[in-house]
Amino acid sequence: MDKRTFIKSAALSAAGTSFGMDALAALFDSRKSTDSITLAQDEAFWSSIRSQYLLKPDYINLENGYYNFIPESLLEKFIGHVRHVNYHGSWYMRNNAVDNKKRVVEKLSQLAGCSPKELAITRNTTESMDIVITGKHWQAGDETIMAEQDYGSMIEAMRHVANRYGVVNRMVSVPNHPQSDEEIVSLYENAITPKTKLILVSHIINITGQILPIRKICDMAHRKGVEVLVDGAHAIAHFQYKISDLNCDYYGSSLHKWLSTPLGAGLLYVNQKRMPELWPLIVGWEKDPNKILRISHTGTHPAHTDLTIADSIDYYNMIGAERKEARLRFLQQYWTCRVRNTPRIILNTPADPARSCGIANVGIEGIKPGDLAKRLLEEHSIFTVAIDGANVFGCRITPNVYTTVEELDKFVKALKKLAA
Ligand SMILES: Cc1ncc(COP(=O)(O)O)c(C=O)c1O
Repeated sequence: MDKRTFIKSAALSAAGTSFGMDALAALFDSRKSTDSITLAQDEAFWSSIRSQYLLKPDYINLENGYYNFIPESLLEKFIGHVRHVNYHGSWYMRNNAVDNKKRVVEKLSQLAGCSPKELAITRNTTESMDIVITGKHWQAGDETIMAEQDYGSMIEAMRHVANRYGVVNRMVSVPNHPQSDEEIVSLYENAITPKTKLILVSHIINITGQILPIRKICDMAHRKGVEVLVDGAHAIAHFQYKISDLNCDYYGSSLHKWLSTPLGAGLLYVNQKRMPELWPLIVGWEKDPNKILRISHTGTHPAHTDLTIADSIDYYNMIGAERKEARLRFLQQYWTCRVRNTPRIILNTPADPARSCGIANVGIEGIKPGDLAKRLLEEHSIFTVAIDGANVFGCRITPNVYTTVEELDKFVKALKKLAA
C-alpha cells in the first residue's frame, strides 16, 4: 500500500467513511422525488457513493463482475460481526446462529421475491447450481440443454453428470445480437426432445452481459414438461426482478457479486414442487423432503458472513433497486454508445438497453482479447478481463455504481486509440 492509500485507509477506518452512512442515507432520501434516469446521470450525487469505497489508485477498475468488493461502511459492519461471533464463540453458535440465519433468509427472500421456505443461503452460485445438477435423479439417456456461453464450471458440472449417469448434453449457442425474445426461446425449444429433462440457462450471460428472456423460456419449457435451472450469478441486486415471476424451477446466484456481501455468500431457490426430488450434495440432519434445509446443509461456516448479508441488503435498499439499475445501465450505455459504430470496434452486447444492464463486452478487430486486456492495463491503466471463446472475443467491462463518466471517457479514448 502506498503512502497516499494508507493515509486514506487510516482516515476511513478512523472516521467511518468520508461520507458517513447516516449522511449518505439522508442524501438518498432527499432525492426520492428525482426520477432514477435523471439521477443516474448526476455525477456529483454518485460521488457520495464513490467516497464509500477505498479505491486502488493503480488502475481504473472495470472488472467489478468477479466480485463487487465492499464499501467501507459495510466492511466495518462485517468486521463488527466477526468480532461479535468470535467473542461469543460456541455460545453464539448454539444459541443465536440458527435464528439469526433464519431472519437473514427471511430478509433475503423479500429481496429475491420468493418464499423463505424455498430459499437457502449457500456459499456461492457454484454450490447452488451443483446442488441441483448433481442432486437430480438422473437416468441414462436423459437429456439436458445448455449454451456454450454458460459459465464454464456449470458446463463442467453438466459434463460430470453425463459421465457419471449417461446423461446426454445438448449445446446451443446464444447469438450476441438477437433480433427478438422469440429467437432465443426457439433456440432452446428446437433442442428439446422427448428425453429432455432440464434446461440450464443464464439469466445474464456473464461474458457479454446479455439478459435472456427467462420467463418466456420457462413457460415454453414447462409446456413441454422440461424443468429450468437458472444461473443468476450476476443478476441479484444488479437489475430488478422477482424469482417468483420467472416461473423457473431452480435459481442460483452469488451475493458477493452485485449485492456486495463479503466473499462466500450465495442463494439457492428451489420451487417447492421440486424440493423432494433432489438428493442432497452435503448430508445433514433434516430429513423432511419438503424442507430446503435437507438439501442445503453446510456444517459450521462463517456465521458473520450470514449476518452481513442483512447489512448488504440494507445498503442496497438505501441506494434503491431502481436507482442502482438505472445507474448501471446508464454507465454501460454511456461508453457503448460512444464506440458502437467505430471502425474495428466490435461490441458483443446487444444495443437494445432492455437486453443488458451494467455489463458489456468489446473487442477490437485484429487484437486478441488477451492482448487487448494487457494493453488496456499496461498502456492505459484500465483493468478488465479478456474473454476468448464461445463466439465472444473481447474484454468484459463491468463498471460499478462508483465508476465515473470521467473514467469511462478515458476508457473510450483508449479503445479508439487502440482501434485507430
Ligand atoms: C454466470 C456465472 N455462473 C456462475 C459463476 C460462479 O460464481 P461463484 O464463483 O460465485 O460461485 C459465475 C462467476 O462469475 C458466473 O459468472
